[in-house]
Order: sequence, then structure tokens, then C-alpha cells
Amino acid sequence: MLQHFDFNKSWKELEEASAYLRGKIKETPKIALILGSSLGSLADEIEDRVEIPYREVPHMLTSTAPGHKGIFIFGHFRGKPVVAMSGRFHYYEGYSESELAFPVRLLKLLGVEILVLTNAAGCVNESWKVGDVMIITDHINLMGLSPMRGTNFEQLGERFFDVSEMYDPNLQLQVFKAARELGSDDHTHCGVYFFMPGPHYETPAEIRAIRILGGDAVGMSTVTEALTAAHCGIKTVGLSFLTNMAAGMDDEKLSDAGVVQAAAKNGPRFQRLMARFIENIKL
Ligand code: HPA
Repeated sequence: MLQHFDFNKSWKELEEASAYLRGKIKETPKIALILGSSLGSLADEIEDRVEIPYREVPHMLTSTAPGHKGIFIFGHFRGKPVVAMSGRFHYYEGYSESELAFPVRLLKLLGVEILVLTNAAGCVNESWKVGDVMIITDHINLMGLSPMRGTNFEQLGERFFDVSEMYDPNLQLQVFKAARELGSDDHTHCGVYFFMPGPHYETPAEIRAIRILGGDAVGMSTVTEALTAAHCGIKTVGLSFLTNMAAGMDDEKLSDAGVVQAAAKNGPRFQRLMARFIENIKL
């Protein structure tokens, strides 16, 4: 069915949501962190914090995925003004792609300049291991889904927009530098994130196809946010934390519990990398 977009209403909703949040915070956040499954504890280190549950924000979506808390945390991370979204929204929860654009557009209206996206992902690349980190250089989204479908918000960006450098090359380099500083460059790779809509994991045949098509990691998030950010001119960096070998690559059955366990086991290294990277960012 053709989706009808009420431009004025949606724009008004965005403005109402951002006015609400602006009324609660003292400083414009320059960096936004959208933290993936079980990777939310980085936000514990945010100082001078103001926590705002999503449900308090007018028109905001509700987080339903396991391991996703559903709060904005404003404050300082290593001295930088940030906002973390502890809990994100996914297509598999039932949201339309256009609805999924809302939180990132809200970040834009708040003044965010850099978006850091993290996710838990399956490892497709046969040379890498569980616990490694992939700096996203690009993604493949063959689902035919775009959050920018429907009426274009000209105030935010052009109808047709370039996505050839959606993941900012300089920020990618900065992550790699941070990994080197921490001596974890052996566990840090660059590669292509392949989006699958979920909520089921992939079949082994799909994983073989994804590898042939050029995917190094597979997951159910991130692309919508990155596309929305590209449209409205927020610089993006994406990090996949590889919680499991993708379907059929070993004898493990895939489960959310396994993903959570892997994130808990190797999470601290990922956390240190993120922290160093953010500390090094020059605003
Ligand atoms: N596939 C899709 N999404 C995921 C996976 C996976 O193997 N692991 C964590 N998120």
C-alpha cells in the first residue's frame, strides 16, 4: 500500500519533540551515540547526566527489543557534550522505515554533528573471530527499504542524495588510530555491513550469498540510521561488534542469549576502543 506522509504534521512532531528535549538540557550535544544490543553500558560513563526516558518525549518511538533500555542520556563523555540513545529501533519491531528516521532527525534538530553507531553483528568474514570489531566502511541494503521514502523534508536534505561516503573516512581512520593506541588493532578490521531485516537470523545459504555479494558482517540495524544521517548531513561512524560467527559457519546455534553473552565477555575491549575514539575526536 502506498504510504501517505503528512509533511506538516511530521515536521511539527519533530519540532515538538526537540523543543521538549531542549527544555531539559543545558548544552547542545555534538556527538550522539546509538548503542547496540548489550553495548549500552558505555553510557554508564557519561557524567553530568540528564536521563530522559523515550516514553516522556512527545511522539518518540518506544523501544521493544531485548537489551535496549529506551532512554536518552545527555551529558559529558570524556569532556565532550554527548547524547546517548540507550536502546534503538529496528525494522523488525514493526516500525516503517519512515518512522525509523524520526530519532536521527531529532538528533539533527538538537544540533548533533557526529553520529556514532554501534551494533552487535554476525561475522561473515572467514578470517575474523568472535569478539573482533569491524569498522563499517560501507553497507549493502538489498531490502529495497529507505527511510527517506515518501515526502522529502527539504529543510533537512535533498530528495536525491549521495551516499558514496556515508561512513566518514576520517572518522574511520580515527577509530583505527584509537585501536592502535590501545594495542587492539589485531582485533579491529574494516569491512562491509550487510543489512538483513530479521528478526530471525539468516540461513546458512543466505550467509554464503552475503559473502559472495561482499558482506563481511551481518546485522539487523544501523543502515536506516546511517541513511537518515547522510540525508541530513550528520557525519557517521559505524562499529560492529562481532558476537558470533554467522549462521552455518560453526556448530553454534544462534540465539539472543549467545549474542548477549559474547557482548558481555568481550564488551570491555570494545568499550575501551569507543571511549578512546571519542576522547580523541576534535570538535
Ligand atoms: N545476524 C544478524 N544479526 C545479528 C547477528 C547475526 O548473526 N548477530 C548479532 N546480530
